[in-house]
Amino acid sequence: MTDHLLRLDDVRATLRLRGGEQTLLNGVSLEIGAGEALGLVGESGSGKSLTTRAITRMLDPAFRVSGEILFDGVSVPRMNAQALRRYRQRDVGMIFQDPRAHVNPVHRVGDFLTEALVRDRGVDRREAERRAVELLDEVGVRNPEHRLHQYPHELSGGLLQRVMIASVLLAEPKLILADEPTTALDVTAQSDVMAILDEQRRARGLALLFITHDLELAAACCDRLAVMYAGEIVEQGAHVYDAPTHPYTIELLGARPSIEHRVERLPVLRYDRATHELLKTEAS
Ligand SMILES: Nc1ncnc2c1ncn2[C@@H]1O[C@H](COP(=O)(O)OP(=O)(O)O)[C@@H](O)[C@H]1O
Ligand SMILES: [Mg+2]
Repeated sequence: MTDHLLRLDDVRATLRLRGGEQTLLNGVSLEIGAGEALGLVGESGSGKSLTTRAITRMLDPAFRVSGEILFDGVSVPRMNAQALRRYRQRDVGMIFQDPRAHVNPVHRVGDFLTEALVRDRGVDRREAERRAVELLDEVGVRNPEHRLHQYPHELSGGLLQRVMIASVLLAEPKLILADEPTTALDVTAQSDVMAILDEQRRARGLALLFITHDLELAAACCDRLAVMYAGEIVEQGAHVYDAPTHPYTIELLGARPSIEHRVERLPVLRYDRATHELLKTEAS
């Protein structure tokens, strides 16, 4: 019937509270084709992360969820436990804002990378390590053999996010859900990590749901954009960035920093006792 890899149709998530209900996803519908990148943008609290949790059926049990989610034509809400496990392990890969919150700090990088292959897929440990080294190399991690023996705290945030990307790629998913994957990183690591994610998913023909509050970044690396506001997709398409029609999108675009007025970092000033002047330092 459909050539979409992922399709959400009127997904609602309602939280029962004392004295009433709160609908936090209010009829979300979106589609992602095989190999396509969809950027999901919207302000903080608009429901972007809840949407990814709905896609992977990881919403808190307190939510009442309705609507249809089809992956490769199969209904995710109707999957049995075994099918759901397989879907989460093999079909979708997830990359989150804070990589440190998603690794076990007492496990070495190598164990983190190879665990799923060895445990769930019966890959021999040496072969799993060989693949891990190969992938670390592909995502630009230098000295990959050495990294396998390190612990997460020995790696910078940017490096750890590359490890997360490698771990997702190792599982060979069809779709990557990346929820603000660069937001917690410093500016230089942000562009590196984004470039690697973009390059790798294109090279492998993987679909991507890229969540961000940065409309420009989403426009630069996605085929289409969907704009979310208060639990709803208010606008969707390839036109969104160049010719937005919804008032909220126009506001969002109006709020972006312009190239001309871009300030990467505020200057660092130093007080000069001799001249009583504030001077810009070398670092600024
Ligand atoms: N488990 C929860 N219980 C109650 N409210 C929640 C829960 N998870 C998220 N919310 C609320 O739902 C809204 C959307 O959250 P979220 O999807 O995380 O937004 P974002 O677009 O920033 O990712 C927010 O107002 C958030 O406070
Ligand atoms: Mg979020």
